[in-house]
Amino acid sequence: MIKGLVLDLDGVIADTAEYHYLAWKWLGEQLGIQIDREFNEQLKGISRLESLELILTHGQLNDAFSEVEKNNLAAKKNDVYKKYISEIVPTDILPGINDLLSEAKVRGLKLSIASASMNAPDILKNLKVDMYFDAIVNPASLKHGKPDPEIFIKAAQLLGLSPEQCIGIEDAEAGIEAINGAGMFSVGVGAEILMKNADFFVAETNYLNLGDLLSQVGKC
Ligand code: BG6
Ligand code: MG
Repeated sequence: MIKGLVLDLDGVIADTAEYHYLAWKWLGEQLGIQIDREFNEQLKGISRLESLELILTHGQLNDAFSEVEKNNLAAKKNDVYKKYISEIVPTDILPGINDLLSEAKVRGLKLSIASASMNAPDILKNLKVDMYFDAIVNPASLKHGKPDPEIFIKAAQLLGLSPEQCIGIEDAEAGIEAINGAGMFSVGVGAEILMKNADFFVAETNYLNLGDLLSQVGKC
């Protein structure tokens, strides 16, 4: 029986995936590396430094910077990103998410966040939805990032639940792989081609209806 929901943040609760894209695009321009939306799909769900590595490889600049310089580049991107998220207000929550969270609480489900973002707690506060969550996985506490299942296993554990008792919701291919690897029912948000490995998918967050999700798990 499902007793918990584990949600990714960027691209599921708020459209912050777009801000990550804009901030990386800005950094790419400083370095002479072009970042388009198709390439950006690979950056979704993975950590800040892993994203930077992919970008530098993409621009054939992987050996051009020391570890210290890479940390500085990642920090510059984060400064740009933080300017975007400082302006986030409650109405920036993606459509359908407020209803999903409140419905989950009414039904007695526990909620946790499985996001690679170090900025997740601030974003949840700005959106005024932090009170819905029983736990937020600290990405710094993990050995492996998505697509490794560790973050979803931890997110269930923090709720006192097994992964099989939870539904995981993601917008990234790496995230769906992580949910599936944890043995959790996976729900994808986004284009069918990208969400093809999800147990169930919706095109947009406003179609994330809790009753539907629970009945989909029942069909498995
Ligand atoms: C993930 C995003 O949730 O968090 C990635 O999908 C991002 O795009 C990662 O790089 C790390 O986020 P942050 O806020 O710690 O740089
Ligand atoms: Mg995401």
